Amino acid sequence: MAEHPLTASHSSLDPEQYRPDFPILSTVLYENHPLVYLDNAATTQRPRAVIDKLVQVYESLYANVHRGVHWLSDQSTDLFEESRERVRTFINAPQRHEVIFTTGTTSAINLVARSWGDATVKAGDEILLTELEHHSNIVPWQQLAERTGCRVRFAPITAEGFLDLPQFHAMLSERTRMVAISAVSNVLGTINPIQELVAAAHRLGAIVLVDAAQSAPHQRTDVQAWDADFVAFSGHKMLGPSGIGILYGRESLLEAMPPFLGGGNMIRRVTVDGYEAADLPAKFEAGTPPIVPAIGLGAAIDYLNQVGLERIHDHEMMLTEYAHKILAEVGDITMLGPPPGQKAGIVSFVVDRVHAHDVAQILDARGIAIRAGHHCAMPLHKRLKITASNRASFYFYNTRAEVEKLGEALKDCKRLFRRKKQGPA
Ligand SMILES: Cc1ncc(COP(=O)(O)O)c(C=O)c1O
Repeated sequence: MAEHPLTASHSSLDPEQYRPDFPILSTVLYENHPLVYLDNAATTQRPRAVIDKLVQVYESLYANVHRGVHWLSDQSTDLFEESRERVRTFINAPQRHEVIFTTGTTSAINLVARSWGDATVKAGDEILLTELEHHSNIVPWQQLAERTGCRVRFAPITAEGFLDLPQFHAMLSERTRMVAISAVSNVLGTINPIQELVAAAHRLGAIVLVDAAQSAPHQRTDVQAWDADFVAFSGHKMLGPSGIGILYGRESLLEAMPPFLGGGNMIRRVTVDGYEAADLPAKFEAGTPPIVPAIGLGAAIDYLNQVGLERIHDHEMMLTEYAHKILAEVGDITMLGPPPGQKAGIVSFVVDRVHAHDVAQILDARGIAIRAGHHCAMPLHKRLKITASNRASFYFYNTRAEVEKLGEALKDCKRLFRRKKQGPA
């Protein structure tokens, strides 16, 4: 797999072809502002095909899975397991039982930190993260450090927002037990060279977890090409329902790990003296799983495959390039992270002398949804010496016209704040 083809100044994808599939995109806010949804890194919207699937299952195919001996239970179990197979194909995992349903990226990473971490990591060991990580890929490791006395280290980024590769390699050592790293930064859009990082970690015997929350929805995921040991991502960021996520794990590691949560479904046998864990993947799916969200994720994957991840990626690259041009024209805006053409469809910025929340509020009044704050990446914001930023993040249903509206609204924002500062005429 060629890793992340980077430049694409044009797109063969027409978002207008897909927008009618997304009921929410025709929302009109505050009487006359069509919704401009640019908060896709937080969560995406759902097409009718996914919504219909959820309704169909709840209306006529719903029962608990892996338990019943009745027809309905068979139906929902089949749909649930078919969805697991769709995920397996989507990420090119070798085996279906290496795909664990979780409730999201966060719970997938916590599962690894608790189960693999508690069983493996000792005082003095090191967990290597990067300054780009989301809190979901920081705090579980800090908690592991509290429990075990291991040390959590952060590989730095360069001034441009790329991972500092020489520093990363210098920080890797025989003490490194785990490298946990995002494929794409949720703030800077930085695309990390996962294959290279995995290979380097493996040479020193470290395990690698890839946080693919911001990459899986937008570019092809191939866990075998990456050679990753664990990969985590969330359904709600890729057209699926909330409450469903995936942990891919290498079979040999999952087999060796103790169960994370205990309860129904994860056991083969229970006696008053103890229990015997079930085989994979049930061993890590205690209790009633998110049945319908998992089935909905399968429908989302079908939809994404139909659109085509390469075309999605190219379209987002084009929008990102365009957004950089438009925001440069607005002026007085500091762009964060790598230049366009070298990052994913995430555009974070700071409007000079205007607080991020004020910017987002002014844009909201015009129907434009963007994110404001630290985006669950406080260490990164500290590294950038800012407390908050704004973030516009794209998906394939976004248009150039929406980027232009963003630019116009930012110009209004500047005018408004200049007036405020000068006081009434
Ligand atoms: C890079 C990254 N990792 C992890 C997460 C956490 O995902 P979730 O809240 O779906 O568990 C997010 C969510 O924004 C993210 O962007």
